[in-house]
Amino acid sequence: MRVLICLAFIVVCSAQVPQRCDSPKQWVGRRIRADRANQYFERASHSYDEVNRRTRSIEEREVGKERDYYDTLHLHNVGMEYRLNLRTKQCNVTKLTRPFRYIGVPDNAHFLFEAEIGAAQVPDEHLTAKTFDGKFEDGASYVVTVTSPDCIPIALDVHHNDSSNEWFHERYFDVKLGIDDPAVFIPPSECNQ
Ligand SMILES: *[C@@H]1O[C@H](CO)[C@@H](O)[C@H](O)[C@H]1NC(C)=O
Ligand SMILES: *[C@@H]1O[C@H](CO)[C@@H](O)[C@H](O)[C@H]1NC(C)=O
Repeated sequence: MRVLICLAFIVVCSAQVPQRCDSPKQWVGRRIRADRANQYFERASHSYDEVNRRTRSIEEREVGKERDYYDTLHLHNVGMEYRLNLRTKQCNVTKLTRPFRYIGVPDNAHFLFEAEIGAAQVPDEHLTAKTFDGKFEDGASYVVTVTSPDCIPIALDVHHNDSSNEWFHERYFDVKLGIDDPAVFIPPSECNQ
């Protein structure tokens, strides 16, 4: 009995230690983004590769009553952006100078809280999530929420109070680990003309 009580005590104590965690470095999923700086809302399928600092998104963007569709490739490893309008087939290739935004819990992140998302008392209707905040190296502030214990990203909010005026909220769904198709990081053929 005494052993049991001690064990319970250890579990409670260790549960209170805020632990950062390592999020997957490569995944494919769906994301929604509300961009407050540029005033648009977007649904996208998103491929994320932190190892090589690149992302590919097929985006459906709403700006006011307008709707547009883009295929956007960000190759931060070589500093290039390929942005194809899927409706007009016009592609813009531009230099990419913005920093790659890490989706996960940075080393120096500050633990805020752990909580259940959903109904904690109902079986199979909840999951445990941890939320952290902090500042990226370039000074932008972030708040990030990940699942516990596996550290799958759920939400990322970034606000940079400088001339870049970067300010967005992203939510991630249906995350599938790994990149099945490496060709997803090859620019669309329309962009080579
Ligand atoms: C490409 O750049 C032009 C000029 O800035 C802009 O009007 C157009 O919307 C851009 N197209 C895409 C696909 O971003
Ligand atoms: C942003 O910067 C301005 C000017 O430096 C400052 O007045 C303001 O309080 C800052 N806002 C935030 C949210 O940090």
